[in-house]
Amino acid sequence: MPVNGPVPWKRADHTGAKHDIYRRYLKRWFPILLNGSKPYRSVMYAEGFAGPGVYVDDHPGSPIIAMQALVDEVTNPKPVVKMLFVDDDSRCVEMLNEQFRVRFPVRPRTHDTLLFKVTEGTCIDKLESELNVMRAWGQPILAVLDSWGNVPITYRLLERLAANLSSEVIITLGTQPFIRFVSKMGSDADEVFGGDPTWREVSNLTSGAAKRQHILTCYRRTLSRAGFKFLLDFELIDTRGESLYLVFGTNHRRGLEKMKDSAWEVDRVYGVGFRDPRDEQAETLFELTEPALAPLGRLLLNRLKTGPATGLRIETLREFALFETVYRPEHVIKTLRELRPQGLIDSDSQHLTRSSIVRAKP
Ligand SMILES: C[S@@+](CC[C@H](N)C(=O)[O-])C[C@H]1O[C@@H](n2cnc3c(N)ncnc32)[C@H](O)[C@@H]1O
Repeated sequence: MPVNGPVPWKRADHTGAKHDIYRRYLKRWFPILLNGSKPYRSVMYAEGFAGPGVYVDDHPGSPIIAMQALVDEVTNPKPVVKMLFVDDDSRCVEMLNEQFRVRFPVRPRTHDTLLFKVTEGTCIDKLESELNVMRAWGQPILAVLDSWGNVPITYRLLERLAANLSSEVIITLGTQPFIRFVSKMGSDADEVFGGDPTWREVSNLTSGAAKRQHILTCYRRTLSRAGFKFLLDFELIDTRGESLYLVFGTNHRRGLEKMKDSAWEVDRVYGVGFRDPRDEQAETLFELTEPALAPLGRLLLNRLKTGPATGLRIETLREFALFETVYRPEHVIKTLRELRPQGLIDSDSQHLTRSSIVRAKP
């Protein structure tokens, strides 16, 4: 759907935070894949909803951030870097081409080692077909699918990406379109969820939080079914309470760790907090400089209560934090140290280490 209003537009606060996360992740992704002793022969960075590359206050858009990360981080001149940008608004396509010309007047790599395309059309019509034309399959692809939140993409594309070598997706999900327009949305909306209409049960739920949670759970299930082994999703909330979800899918533990690091380092100047959608009290994780550990405390307690009565090793809880929450493994011992004096847990040793066993107190 072309932009409903002028191009470019003003950057929302959570867009600033989202870009900060993209930037930090790309500054890790490009060098991990392309520098070092065993670089990939080629990689593809692809956006299905590229935007104009600039905002009204001249902040760069995601395509420019990606190109800058490549320029800043990749020291190996040999691998082929492919970049594809699709948008269905002709004004965005024109402006994005202009932004690349202005911001990168010198071609960052040779013609043979940087294959670069900006294409007008819908993500459904163009992204997969251009990935074919550019011979991207068989080498890593990072697909950034930053729609207005309605995720108009095919399930087949997700399946192909999940099955492709070292490929990952970063998807922006807005729950509002699905909550508000459930009765008006047709089969296109089911396709977003891989053809499964369970998301429509949202109309039976009463609280806003339960509705959001339901859509997110259905979407996570969709990405898992498509073949992504590890998922990370979190909600970015700006000072006006407006939120969006970023959902990341990968088949590599390292990808998950690096995305989590990128999210936790996001610059607090954006005034945006993030939440773990699984926390029943929906507490924001950082508005202050210190991360709020109470939500992780609740998640750990639930995990302990549903686990064996003999307790769990801290290493198991660290893995749980990595794979099942937005927290990092490093947050676990710190959190347990807060729970113990509250009488909520006990442990087999006074000094908590990765091999200690902890139990929820009855
Ligand atoms: C949220 S903006 C993208 C912003 C950009 N990724 C950034 O961070 O700078 C969404 C873009 O998707 C485009 N768009 C909307 N529906 C589309 C579709 N079905 N296929 C391709 N582009 C679409 C719009 O024109 C708009 O530029």
